[in-house]
Amino acid sequence: MIFIKNKSEIEKMRKAGNFAAKLLNYLGPFVKSGVNTLELNDLAEAFTKKHGHRSAPLGYRGFPKSICTSINNVVCHGIPKKEDVLKDGDIINLDVSPIVDGYIGDTSRTFIVGTTTKEIEKLVSDTEKAMWVGIEQVKPGKRVDDIGNAIDDFLTPLGYGIVRDLMGHGVGRNFHEEPQVPHFRSPKKLAKIESGMIFTVEPMVNLGTWEVNFDRQDKWTVRTKDGKWSAQFEHTVLVTDQGYEILTQES
Ligand code: MF3
Ligand code: CO
Ligand code: CO
Repeated sequence: MIFIKNKSEIEKMRKAGNFAAKLLNYLGPFVKSGVNTLELNDLAEAFTKKHGHRSAPLGYRGFPKSICTSINNVVCHGIPKKEDVLKDGDIINLDVSPIVDGYIGDTSRTFIVGTTTKEIEKLVSDTEKAMWVGIEQVKPGKRVDDIGNAIDDFLTPLGYGIVRDLMGHGVGRNFHEEPQVPHFRSPKKLAKIESGMIFTVEPMVNLGTWEVNFDRQDKWTVRTKDGKWSAQFEHTVLVTDQGYEILTQES
């Protein structure tokens, strides 16, 4: 069932979303050639703790770290490690999900390390646009599948592969709750969007095939099947009477 959040829950989600945005903005300047992803993780964990909060990923279904760090051909759920050192031209998605007073804000962004190719720059900017194309669909009376249909109509003519195995999701006290939010065209009509729902829109967009592999050893890292690069952006969004409010923005 899809939870409709009440006033006080919405206020707590605003706080959680605001802190998530603050955390991601804090991390941005540390994304540079030479830094390793464990350092980024540790900065995130220290910043979160200093503000009296916790990291939802840490220990979530056995996830071992506080944020996800997904480089180049890694689609999502990359595990921070000191061996993963950023170099010029790489792209990295940082996905942060702090718990603030029991509620979770979930947001991610793909950063370019130094300078990269035109093709990769376009992948990253088209992926951010795709997230906004999806978010623009969010208003009462629309359905959840309208989000994926709009994103698909935008991206497919550009030749990208849209990841199907992982979707946006309701979020609140739970990290992942209903509804699932597809970023691709869905043949079925899905749930109606209603005021008070809170969910993420987080398209994962590949330069090649949409197909992905899950790491056999660590059980988490998701990579493109063809090795081509992938980008992602994510916001947590509240459905209002008029349309939407972005919760994961710093105010
Ligand atoms: N933040 C991710 C999402 O957008 C979920 C990460 S689950 C974790 O849904 F365990 F890998 F952190
Ligand atoms: Co999410
Ligand atoms: Co996330």
